[in-house]
Amino acid sequence: MMSRRQQLHLLSAALLAAGAIGSAQAQSDTVKIGLILPMTGPFASTGKQIEAAARLWMAQNGTAVGGKKVELVLKDDAGIADTTRRLAQELVVNDKVVALAGFGLTPLALAAAPVATQGKTPLVVMAAATSSITEASPWIVRTSFTLPQATVGIAEWAAKNKITKVVSLVADYGPGIDAEKFFVQRFTEHGGTVVDKLRTPMRSPDFAPVLQKVRDEKPDAVFVFLPSGQGTAFMKQFAERGLDKAGVKLIGTGDVVDDDILNEMGDVALGVVTSHHYSAAHNSTVNKAFVDAFQAANPRMRPNFMAVGGYDGMRLIYRGLEASKGAGGEALLEAMKTQRFESPRGPVSIDTATRDIVQDIYIRKVEKVGGALYNVEFETIKAVKDPGKAAK
Ligand code: PHB
Repeated sequence: MMSRRQQLHLLSAALLAAGAIGSAQAQSDTVKIGLILPMTGPFASTGKQIEAAARLWMAQNGTAVGGKKVELVLKDDAGIADTTRRLAQELVVNDKVVALAGFGLTPLALAAAPVATQGKTPLVVMAAATSSITEASPWIVRTSFTLPQATVGIAEWAAKNKITKVVSLVADYGPGIDAEKFFVQRFTEHGGTVVDKLRTPMRSPDFAPVLQKVRDEKPDAVFVFLPSGQGTAFMKQFAERGLDKAGVKLIGTGDVVDDDILNEMGDVALGVVTSHHYSAAHNSTVNKAFVDAFQAANPRMRPNFMAVGGYDGMRLIYRGLEASKGAGGEALLEAMKTQRFESPRGPVSIDTATRDIVQDIYIRKVEKVGGALYNVEFETIKAVKDPGKAAK
C-alpha cells in the first residue's frame, strides 16, 4: 500500500503532467465538467441547490457545445476540504476535466485552488464568497458573490434608517470575518456604532450564548452573517429568546434568510431587512422563467442564491467553450473572463482584472406574498464590484 504522502506526490506529478500537455481534452469528442459539492453533511442544501441548477441549465441548453459533447461529473466532498482537494486532483488527472466547478464553502475552494494552478484548469466558484478566494489562483473565476459586496449595502441602509447601535454576529471563518470587517467599516463611516463583535463556530454553532449577550446589550439591531443552511436554527433561537419582542431588529446579508428555507421560518422572519444579490422574488422576465423552470423540475424546492451561482457558472463554462471551440486551458479561461449577461439575479459581468462577478445588490425586506414568505427587493445599488479588492 502506498502511504497518503506518496499518493499525494504521485498525484502532484500527474497534475503537472496534465498541465504541461495543456488541454488533454483537445483530441476527445467529449468534454467533462467536474462539479464538486457538499451533497451530504451540514451544508448539503448548498450542494442540492447547485446540482439542481446545473442540471436545469443542461436540460435547457443541451449537451453539445463548441463542437463537443458535455458531460457533468458530480462528486460529493461532504464539506471536508481534504476530500475536495483529493477529488479535484482525481478529476484533473484521471477524468481530464475541462473545468472544475462548485465549491460550497471557502475552505473547500481554497483547498482546490492549487490543483487548478498546477493542472492549468479553469475553476468556477459557484458558492464560496470570501473576497480573497480569486487571489488564490489565476485560474479561478467566480459566479457567486463576495461578503464585502453583500455587506456594504445593509451597512449604509441601517445607518440611514435610524439604526445607530448594532451588535455584529458572524460565523468565525473567512466570509464571516469579511462581513464583520466591512459592516463595521461602512456603518461607522456613516455615523453608527458597533458595540460588540460576536462570532460563532462555522460548524455546529450554539446560538444561545451569543443571543443572550445581544439581549443584554440591547442594541437597535443585530447584524448577522451565517452560511446558508444555518438560518432556520438561528431564527428559531432568536424568537425563543424573545429578541424580536425585546425590539432588537435583525439585519444582515441575505444568507440568513435564503430562499431555500425562508418560507419554513414562519412569521418571526417578517420584516427582516438584508442586502444580497439574489431573491427568488426578483422582478424580471428572466427570473420568472428561471424560477418556474426550476420548480417544475424540482417541485419541492425554491431556488436560492446558491442555485443562481450554479446556473450562471454553467452558462460561463458553456459560453466559454463555444468561444474556445471546445478547447480548455487558457482559451477557456480567457473566454470566461470577459462575459456579460442578464442573470436571473439581474445584469452581471465578470471583472476581467479580478475574475469576480460585478452585480446589482438589492436591499430587501421579508414580506408575505401570496401567502408565502419572500425577500421583496425595494432598493438597488447598481453594478457593485467586490469592495474587498479595492480595500487593499
Ligand atoms: C463560504 O464558505 O464562503 C460561504 C458559505 C455559505 C454562504 C456564504 C459564504 O452563504
